[in-house]
Amino acid sequence: LHVAVLMGGWSSERAVSLTSGEGVASALEGRGHTVTRIDMGRDVAQKLAEAKPDVVFNALHGTPGEDGTVQGMMDLMGLTYTHSGLATSVIAIDKELTKQTLVPHGIPMPGGRVVKTADLYQRDPLARPYVLKPVNEGSSVGVAIVTAEGNHGNPISPDASGPWQEFDELLAEPFIRGRELTTAVLGDKALMVTELKPKSGFYDFAAKYTDGMTEHVCPAEIPDAIAQACKDIALRAHQLLGCKGTSRSDFRWDDERGVEGLFLLEVNTQPGMTPLSLVPEQARHLGMDYPDLVEAILAEALA
Ligand code: DAL
Ligand code: MG
Repeated sequence: LHVAVLMGGWSSERAVSLTSGEGVASALEGRGHTVTRIDMGRDVAQKLAEAKPDVVFNALHGTPGEDGTVQGMMDLMGLTYTHSGLATSVIAIDKELTKQTLVPHGIPMPGGRVVKTADLYQRDPLARPYVLKPVNEGSSVGVAIVTAEGNHGNPISPDASGPWQEFDELLAEPFIRGRELTTAVLGDKALMVTELKPKSGFYDFAAKYTDGMTEHVCPAEIPDAIAQACKDIALRAHQLLGCKGTSRSDFRWDDERGVEGLFLLEVNTQPGMTPLSLVPEQARHLGMDYPDLVEAILAEALA
């Protein structure tokens, strides 16, 4: 096949996407496919039109490659592409829209609300500790945990520096103590559960992409009921959102509260494919190597 691998772009996850894309492109070449690598710029439609691929492997992360924009462009161009389509991508990139879609179906997700960043300096939006995150970023870009320490009952000081300053609006959610879990879905199957144990702090950008900064416990050492609940929720969320190919559902689990303490945080429709990424790792544990995984994602796009 002739496969165009879309990567890079201009989101805050550009570097992650270039690593994902290079991995995918090398794997496809290793399997005998012809590959055109496209580092997405504003001329992406022209590049795709010139390449005339049989199928596009979308290795983009963030905006506009994961939010429906690029998917809509490819729909218009009549291109076949991997991963989720337009409508799914629009919803899943937005953590608040994802909640509005999934919670009515009984999927447990944290409460919270979207706040104007300027209002954070007037009053705390929620009881501390709480988490602030952009509604539509990935890789923990812009995420901050606001703790009670040194607070003395006051909101964030306008002088305090933090990632929230980059965004006009943020999602504020109660901080869920306990453990960080993730489950990949490939096709119609939830793979397994990995626990992420950062050596310090939380599972932020550095902990995600610096080798040795986070221990991946795969499969997670958790009760069977929790593992099964993660898999059930991940598969159901994938289906309710209409995801295609692969997705990865990220969870927090308050291990003092049993299954009641399990919360889905978000569904990633373009999960990372870097050497430290979690979907390839889970696939590998199930006997599917990286090129097999790439071929499986491609096969679903072509089905
Ligand atoms: N947003 C990153 C790429 C992930 O979900 O793996
Ligand atoms: Mg994400």
